[in-house]
Amino acid sequence: MLTEHLTEAERQYYYMDQCHQWVTSQEEKLGRPLTASVITFGCQMNARDSEKLTGILEKIGYTMIDSEKADFVIYNTCTVRENANMRVYGRLGQMKQIKKKNPEMFIALCGCMMQEPEVVEKLKKSYRHVDLIFGTHNIFKFAELVYRRITEGKMVIDIWKDTDQIVEDLPNERKYPFKTGINIMFGCNNFCSYCIVPYVRGRERSRQPEDIIREIEKAVADGVVEVMLLGQNVNSYGKTLEQPLSFAQLLRRICRIDGLERVRFMTSHPKDLSDELIQVMAEEPKICRHLHLPLQSGSSDILKKMNRRYTKEDYLKLVDKLRRACPDISLTTDIIVGFPGETEEDFLETLDVVEKVGYDSAYTFIYSKRTGTPAAVMEDQVPEDVVKDRFNRLLERVQTIAARVCSRHEGTVQDVLVEEVNHQDPSLVTGKMSNNIVVHFKGDASLIGKIVPVHLTSCKNFYYMGESVKNN
Ligand code: SAH
Ligand code: SF4
Ligand code: F3S
Repeated sequence: MLTEHLTEAERQYYYMDQCHQWVTSQEEKLGRPLTASVITFGCQMNARDSEKLTGILEKIGYTMIDSEKADFVIYNTCTVRENANMRVYGRLGQMKQIKKKNPEMFIALCGCMMQEPEVVEKLKKSYRHVDLIFGTHNIFKFAELVYRRITEGKMVIDIWKDTDQIVEDLPNERKYPFKTGINIMFGCNNFCSYCIVPYVRGRERSRQPEDIIREIEKAVADGVVEVMLLGQNVNSYGKTLEQPLSFAQLLRRICRIDGLERVRFMTSHPKDLSDELIQVMAEEPKICRHLHLPLQSGSSDILKKMNRRYTKEDYLKLVDKLRRACPDISLTTDIIVGFPGETEEDFLETLDVVEKVGYDSAYTFIYSKRTGTPAAVMEDQVPEDVVKDRFNRLLERVQTIAARVCSRHEGTVQDVLVEEVNHQDPSLVTGKMSNNIVVHFKGDASLIGKIVPVHLTSCKNFYYMGESVKNN
């Protein structure tokens, strides 16, 4: 083949070029621009992947819009809980009508849900209006697959079971000019017993530190001041590299990048959070005063069944250590209620940790059975009404505590990175403090992307109203 001697990225640029020629000829034929839309479900990893999809679609020549009435609609799916899947099927059902009005449009599906063979079977059988299906491991081939769809004229399906490949240097289009996510690793090796992610995202693999640093330097040169380092378990970064490097060491190197102001990361698995990392967090002012530390359950018995590999006591000790090293740190978490075999006592242990830690916020989830995971075949699935009751009690506690914890900064002056003009009141701008709490204050669009000292005048449960110190 013509493209054989090229690197993978070069091959993909070749296909972008081929697709671009097709888009141009279509536009001439129709006398209007072709539009595209990327619809994202799931976590920050998916959001980052969608920026890559957007970058490629723009390179191909599509004009990006925010509507499913586009000429190219791609759904980047999530399958972590059952309701994520249901939403995708719902949207696809509606698309059938839309495609009837625009038969030449393309509908594509990618992301975690596509790594499940039953899903692809169902799509093949009942959703014939879909044009292109691919998974998480070959997203770098997007342009090539679009080209195949154009030239073959029928449904294209390409799913890989796993990969050890990381393709660098493809286009990507950042959603915000001043902040961006940066993948530092892909996949997960932890196999928490409820979780489908290791099956759909494959084995853990880390990017080379030089590639990460180069990408961040380039983003900073383009105006980025804040990066979010992304991985399912960032604390095990670097273990599989030929020249191993710890996550803490990587952070030190990233913090040395001139012009970069803030560094965030997620997700941290409590079992791998090292003393070295805590020390770096305490010493490096660029690292944000926020840590997302998923608890999942406060019961050591349930944690064992979840294969989390820490106990309630380990977790509380870790929080203690973090608070001693970084007294002003905000902690947030993920909690699952209704894991198989969870008793009222187990649940009370979770509430106990919630009280003791005092989270700034917590994402609470009802356990969702994922076929193929060990927990799906565990006995003692908890009845729905019991789970609902626990979920409501947990939510109430989490919200009450969050409101109390959040207000501790009232009256202080904090640096706020301005993100946007407020949607409800255009005389205000909205930004985030280092600890990730939202602040609204008087200002205009010229402040977007700037870090501004703001006096926090009043706390409204989970956000602040403030006044810019410079304007006073
Ligand atoms: N890698 C991250 C989490 C990724 S999934 C970590 O280890 O913390 C995001 C969250 O979804 C998890 O923290 C968990 O709380 C929730 N989750 C995962 N599988 C779930 C399931 N089967 N049912 C309900 N919630 C689930
Ligand atoms: Fe899922 Fe556990 Fe991996 Fe997180 S660490 S992605 S919860 S298996
Ligand atoms: Fe969902 Fe995949 Fe993220 S299953 S939570 S989009 S890794």
